[in-house]
Amino acid sequence: MTSTRNKADLFNAMGIGPVWELRSQDEPSKPDAMASGVGLDEMLPASLSLESLQEMVAVCKKCGLCETRKQTVFADGIPHAPLMVVGEGPGVDEDATGRPFVGKSGQLLDRMLKAVGASRTNNTYIANVVKCHPPGNRNPEQAEIEQCSPYLVQQIKASGPKVLLLVGRFAIQTLLNTKKPVGELRGVVHQVTLDGRDIPAVVTYHPAYLLRRPEEKSKAWDDLLLLKQQGLI
Ligand code: URA
Repeated sequence: MTSTRNKADLFNAMGIGPVWELRSQDEPSKPDAMASGVGLDEMLPASLSLESLQEMVAVCKKCGLCETRKQTVFADGIPHAPLMVVGEGPGVDEDATGRPFVGKSGQLLDRMLKAVGASRTNNTYIANVVKCHPPGNRNPEQAEIEQCSPYLVQQIKASGPKVLLLVGRFAIQTLLNTKKPVGELRGVVHQVTLDGRDIPAVVTYHPAYLLRRPEEKSKAWDDLLLLKQQGLI
């Protein structure tokens, strides 16, 4: 069990406090949640590698976001890493650099990952639901998500993570095929089923939301502990 001292250090790393005691790990876990991903499975050739997929994405013109993007933003981190983080879509900084999660919310994501011994230089692969920056930082539209999510699904299959961390409602709702809010979905381990394989998926709030609502960071901490408790990273 994490000691209170260690926990205080980790909380500091995430910029949060005070230190709360963990729920007893003897407490019965909540039942595993729904299987998911209805119809997500059969959209691109199963053998497509990450490299081929990235080339395909780089020239994609399936939706209007191609008109305003500077470049596509495919992924960062370690391909085939045990942990894959899925976010929403590139912001201005990501559009400029071609790398996901490099702005302020990316910096918080890095601190959150570090708190559980994960990083994009070590054991984590990071991607988004949509690969192009929605202008004005607006939310991605449903049609854009529908056009782009087959790339994400193939990206997950080709990278082969042991566990997923889904941050924010667009990643969560897309991969769990639900409209429920994040608050109703967190606290249990979900399964994303692709090619008949169940991939455990932990959900949490988007770092951009946590920057606006720091009082919610302790819930994100609980989510990260749930991720760590899976013993897969
Ligand atoms: N927010 C996201 O969801 N993804 C990014 O890459 C950057 C910000």
